[in-house]
Amino acid sequence: MGLTSSQGYNFSAPVCSWQGVFCDGEEENVIGLVASGLGLSGLIPDTTIGKLTKLQCLDLSNNKITSLPSDFWSLGSLKILNLSDNQISDNLPSNIDNFSLLETLDLSCNNFSGIIPETMSSLVSLQVLKLDRNGFESSIPAGITNCHSLVSIDLSSNRLNGTLPNGFDAAFPKLKSLNLAGNEISGRALDFSGMTSTTYLNVSGNLFQGPVIGVFQDPLEVIDLSQNQFQGHISQVHFNSSVNWSHLVYLDLSENQLSGEIFQNLNEAQNLKHLNLAYNRFSEQEFPEIRVLSGLEYLNLSKTNLIGPIPTEISILSRLRTLDLSNNHLNHQIPLLSIKNLLILDVSLNNLSGDIPLSLLEKIPWMERFNFSYNNLTLCASDFSPETLQFAFIGSLNSCPIAANPELFNRKAPKHRGLKLALALTLSMVCLLVGLMFLAFGWRQKNRMWAVKQNSYKEEQIISGPFSFQTDSTTWVADVKLATSVPVVIFEKPLLNFTFADLLSATSHFDRGTLLAEGRFGPVYRGFLPGGIHVAVKVLVHGSTMTDQEAARELEYLGRIKHPNLVPLTGYCLAGEQRIAIYDYMENGNLQNLLHDLPLAVHTTEDWSKETWEEDDNNGIQNVGSEGLLTTWTFRHKVALGAARALAFLHHGCSPPIIHRDVKASSVYLDSNLEPRLSDFGLAKIFGNSLEDEIARGSPGYVPPEFLQPATGSPRTPTPKSDVYGFGVVLFELITGKKPIEDDYPEEKEANLVSWVRGFVRKNQGSRAIDPKIHGTGSETQMEEALKIAYLCTADLPSKRPSMHQIVNGVGFSLRADACLWMVNAI
Ligand SMILES: *[C@@H]1O[C@H](CO)[C@@H](O)[C@H](O)[C@H]1NC(C)=O
Ligand SMILES: *[C@@H]1O[C@H](CO)[C@@H](O)[C@H](O)[C@H]1NC(C)=O
Ligand SMILES: *[C@@H]1O[C@H](CO)[C@@H](O)[C@H](O)[C@H]1NC(C)=O
Ligand SMILES: *[C@@H]1O[C@H](CO)[C@@H](O)[C@H](O)[C@H]1NC(C)=O
Ligand SMILES: *[C@@H]1O[C@H](CO)[C@@H](O)[C@H](O)[C@H]1NC(C)=O
Ligand SMILES: *[C@@H]1O[C@H](CO)[C@@H](O)[C@H](O)[C@H]1NC(C)=O
Repeated sequence: MGLTSSQGYNFSAPVCSWQGVFCDGEEENVIGLVASGLGLSGLIPDTTIGKLTKLQCLDLSNNKITSLPSDFWSLGSLKILNLSDNQISDNLPSNIDNFSLLETLDLSCNNFSGIIPETMSSLVSLQVLKLDRNGFESSIPAGITNCHSLVSIDLSSNRLNGTLPNGFDAAFPKLKSLNLAGNEISGRALDFSGMTSTTYLNVSGNLFQGPVIGVFQDPLEVIDLSQNQFQGHISQVHFNSSVNWSHLVYLDLSENQLSGEIFQNLNEAQNLKHLNLAYNRFSEQEFPEIRVLSGLEYLNLSKTNLIGPIPTEISILSRLRTLDLSNNHLNHQIPLLSIKNLLILDVSLNNLSGDIPLSLLEKIPWMERFNFSYNNLTLCASDFSPETLQFAFIGSLNSCPIAANPELFNRKAPKHRGLKLALALTLSMVCLLVGLMFLAFGWRQKNRMWAVKQNSYKEEQIISGPFSFQTDSTTWVADVKLATSVPVVIFEKPLLNFTFADLLSATSHFDRGTLLAEGRFGPVYRGFLPGGIHVAVKVLVHGSTMTDQEAARELEYLGRIKHPNLVPLTGYCLAGEQRIAIYDYMENGNLQNLLHDLPLAVHTTEDWSKETWEEDDNNGIQNVGSEGLLTTWTFRHKVALGAARALAFLHHGCSPPIIHRDVKASSVYLDSNLEPRLSDFGLAKIFGNSLEDEIARGSPGYVPPEFLQPATGSPRTPTPKSDVYGFGVVLFELITGKKPIEDDYPEEKEANLVSWVRGFVRKNQGSRAIDPKIHGTGSETQMEEALKIAYLCTADLPSKRPSMHQIVNGVGFSLRADACLWMVNAI
């Protein structure tokens, strides 16, 4: 079995014509090959890539390649090699020394095994070495200390053992980042004093022993020594004494056997944000001084032998998000904490007593996790759910001396009409949470540019979920914990750091007032992202069997498909189980609205100055005017052509062809220039198989006959011809002005539009089916011709239906290849 690709990648074609292939000018030598994320699978055969002896850059990352060809290691011109994220289970051969020009070697996330060959020593130009997440074993070769140009080394998550080669720490004068985490590397008395440029050091999860004797150098920002067997007094862990600790941002020494008293030498780490000293063997000590560490966001002193009270000065830590003081001997009351940013609090297994401060109790509904178990705390609130009491207050429940106010958690909970929540939170006070978020966002609806003016607001806001999506029929929940931590990808504006929180405010928290439609994939909302980007936000609620990574890849792929008659996918957001597709907003609604729901109604100009964001019940068509563009055949013909060209492009301009699977009037939109644009292409794939059947069947009135008789063969497999059928129905709608089902079909008892019109055409009386409104508004011959085309499209036998290519030509347009912008992201 050779290399195959779902993208039709063809290794037998002339190489310089391949996508992602870069040749040098005159001699036509391939010098670059970028085929990342193309679905390449299997083994690469010999004499394919191996023949490209001038290759300097090879990126095959993010595929499903299982093995490299034997002639691969002769590609002596390579400077950049990226094979990350594949399934390659080869060994690294010792003739890797042919790659002496190599600057970047990324083999991460594969199944490589065996040793890292000693001949690595020949890679003297190597700057980036990423071998993480493989099965490399045995010890790190001494030869690596010859690679003096290394800037970044990541060997984490392998099975490397033994000790580090002699002189390792001083071998790489330019080394910025070293990650050896998750191996079985041992060694006593680790010394880091030779690492003079290193800013990131991670040896977490190894078997290092003995004291940390070395002197940490000044530039270090991140130190992770957790989960080893480091021993000795913590005061031995110190920095170059001539400098301070001001660069240090992250320090994790947890799960070692360090002794002594903490913090003596931490007091200069003014920029520290993350400090974890948990699970060590410190001597019994009082809570350390924290005044200088006011920037801390994460503090974990679990099981560090703390005694006495928690000092009141802990309230200085106003950025704190996580505080873990569990498993100590702390007593007295819980002092006031700065709760603004607090999301995780664990004080379990201490000897704390008294009431939990009210401000903290009120914060609890916003928090991700909290644990007060095994203390002597008094809990004066009756509104915790039994589960909460059971798991977060184990052994902590003293009865309340004075009857507490049970309204505590209810009083701020405004009930919003129709707000339904199906919640996974263990707390019953979730109304309060959602209610407050409503207040926080509701007032902004009146000002569509609020986010532009309120930039600073975004940074401070912490909005935690789960979040609900309302539809008319039901409520869906996105399991997003922290809205500001879930990014929204906007393809053309990668520098705008939007998050799920922006989607929340853009849609007034997915309020029904912004609901545009309930598609078969889920609800669609309208919103303005900061900067006035007008979007339609489609929530694909049915979940999917795809992993987040696969879904993201698929959505990125769909984002590259551009055609003047397609509604562009602007971006996306992976919000827990839900995938959210973001489209350009189509100002003028869809054919369903225009033909059937709101006849005679369309408008072109909007007066935004009077925009009120009133709930509009018109499915998103605002300020409905009286001008009726769809009353002329000329315009309806233009719409038909646009839809046909879009489908022809998907079927014939894309490789492999994209089958739309849901062609119907409500998938055809009109943009602000009244150009027709087809929407929703390619979404069915994001759904995986659970809904496959339902999706494949199509919408009522648009289902081709072969799907209704699943008797033989492979029924219900969507094909381009099933799209053609849907297009035929839309064309009938444009000609007759009637809905596909449940309309009045005069003089016939027929149950649907297709059989009604086809009856007329068969009797050569097609003109009787034409919408009276459009008589005389365009060429009658053209109308008759369109009727015939729709007749052919709706043929019972798929093989009798024309292809979209023939249709586009048949109605007088040729597929303009130049309109098909097939954009592939090069490097
Ligand atoms: C290799 O490719 C992956 C995925 O395309 C990318 O994330 C990674 O940064 C690349 N590695 C290097 C060292 O550039
Ligand atoms: C290191 O791993 C190799 C292969 O897994 C094994 O043969 C060797 O004994 C190990 N060495 C040490 C010091 O554990
Ligand atoms: C250290 O590396 C491990 C494994 O890659 C990772 O889980 C951990 O988050 C890293 N620590 C830091 C501080 O980046
Ligand atoms: C604190 O550190 C310990 C030991 O590493 C870890 O098990 C625990 O989950 C940490 N607590 C929090 C809240 O992160
Ligand atoms: C808990 O604290 C109380 C006083 O607050 C003290 O009497 C008791 O001995 C402490 N218990 C433990 C196990 O330390
Ligand atoms: C709280 O801590 C106790 C003691 O460690 C543990 O048994 C319990 O599961 C924890 N509860 C939660 C909700 O984390």
